[in-house]
Amino acid sequence: PAGPLLDALGRPLRDLRISVTDRCNFRCSYCMPKEVFDHYHAFLPHSELLSFEEITRLARIFVGLGVQKLRLTGGEPLLRKHLEVLVEMLAALRTPEGQPLDLTLTTNGSLLVKKAAALKAAGLQRITVSLDALDDKVFRRMNDVDFPVAEVLDGIAAAQAAGLGPIKVNMVVKRGVNVDQILPMARHFRGTGVVLRFIEYMDVGVSNGWRMDDVLPSRELLALLQREFEMRPLSASAPGETAERWAYADGAGEIGLISSVTQAFCGDCNRARLSTEGQLYSCLFASRGHDLRTLLRGAGEQLPPRSDAEIAAALAPLWAARADRYSQLRGSATAAVQKIEMHYIGG
Ligand code: GTP
Ligand code: 5AD
Ligand code: SF4
Ligand code: SF4
Repeated sequence: PAGPLLDALGRPLRDLRISVTDRCNFRCSYCMPKEVFDHYHAFLPHSELLSFEEITRLARIFVGLGVQKLRLTGGEPLLRKHLEVLVEMLAALRTPEGQPLDLTLTTNGSLLVKKAAALKAAGLQRITVSLDALDDKVFRRMNDVDFPVAEVLDGIAAAQAAGLGPIKVNMVVKRGVNVDQILPMARHFRGTGVVLRFIEYMDVGVSNGWRMDDVLPSRELLALLQREFEMRPLSASAPGETAERWAYADGAGEIGLISSVTQAFCGDCNRARLSTEGQLYSCLFASRGHDLRTLLRGAGEQLPPRSDAEIAAALAPLWAARADRYSQLRGSATAAVQKIEMHYIGG
C-alpha cells in the first residue's frame, strides 16, 4: 500500500479511456474506411457490451488504483443510447482523496447540437471534437458520409454555449488530403477559446493502409503556422500529456501538436483503455486485451463473478507488468504486430 501503482517502466496509472460503442456514423478513411466497414461488417451485439453499471463499477475500481481522468470514446460515443445516464454515474465518482475526476469525451460532433446541454447537466466537464477540415467539400470527403461541416461547427457552438469548456478540436492531418486546411482551421479557431490540436496521422489498426509518406511531421506543420503567426512554446500542463502546447504570441490562445509518429510520448504514458466489451488494453497499439467482463460476470461454475477487491487484485499485476511503448519502437520491430482498430478502442 505504499505509493502509486507503477508499471514496468515506472509509469503510474492515471487515465482510463472507456469506449462505449464500436459504431460510428462517419467513415473517416484513416479510421473506418468504407471498403472495410461496410454493410457486411459485424459490429458487437448489445449483449456483448458492458452495461452502464458494469462500466461504472470498473471505473470505480480503477479510481481506487490511481486513475484521476476518465475519457469516453467510441466509435462515436454519442451513438450509445442514454449516454448522459452513464455520464451522471461517472460524475458521482470520487478519488480516495475525495476529489471529483476529470471527466471528458471525444466526439465527432455530429450529435452535439442535440446532446450538449444534457451532457453538461449530467456532469460532463469538457469535450473534444474531431474536425479535420473547414472547407465543406474536403470535410464531406474525409468523413465519407457526406456530413456537412456546418453541423459540426454548430455542435461546437452548442457545447460552448452549454459551458462545456475549454473545448478542444482534434484535426488529423494527412498529406495530400487536408494540409491546405491547416491555416484556415488555425485562423478560424484563434481567439475563440477553442484549443486546436494537430494530430500526426498514425498507423493504428490494420485497415487504413498507413504509409509514412502520408504523415506531415509536426515540425513542418509548426513551420507552416510560423510563416503566418508568431508562436511561443508553453510548458506541459500535466505529466504524460499527448500534446505539445504552443501559444499565439499576440494572446489569441493556444494550439497543440500531437506527434505520436515523429516524437513518441510513451515515456510517461499513463493511459489504460477499456473496450466496449470489457477488454483492457495497455496500449493503443496492443494486439491483445485482458478480459475484465468475465471477472465481472463470471463464466460457469469454474469462474464465479469476482468482488471489487478481487478485480483490483487482478488488475494491479497487469499494470505492474506493462512495458508497452509502441510509438517509440515503431518500425521494423513492430511491423508484424496485429493491432486493434481505432474505432474499437477509441484512440
Ligand atoms: P486531453 O485530455 O484533452 O489532452 O486529451 P487526449 O489528447 O489525451 O485525448 P484525445 O482523445 O483528444 O486524443 C488526441 C489524439 O491523441 C488522438 O489521435 C489519439 O488517438 C491520440 N492519443 C491519445 N492517447 C494516445 C496514446 O496513449 N498513444 C498514442 N500513440 N496516441 C494517443
Ligand atoms: N491517426 C491519428 N488520429 C486518429 N484518430 C482516428 N484515427 C486516427 C489515426 N489513424 C483520431 C480521431 C479522434 C481521436 C480520438 O483519434 O480523429 O480525434
Ligand atoms: Fe471518424 Fe472518429 Fe468515426 Fe473513426 S470514430 S470514423 S475517426 S468520426
Ligand atoms: Fe502509450 Fe502505447 Fe501510445 Fe506509447 S503508443 S503513448 S505506450 S498508448
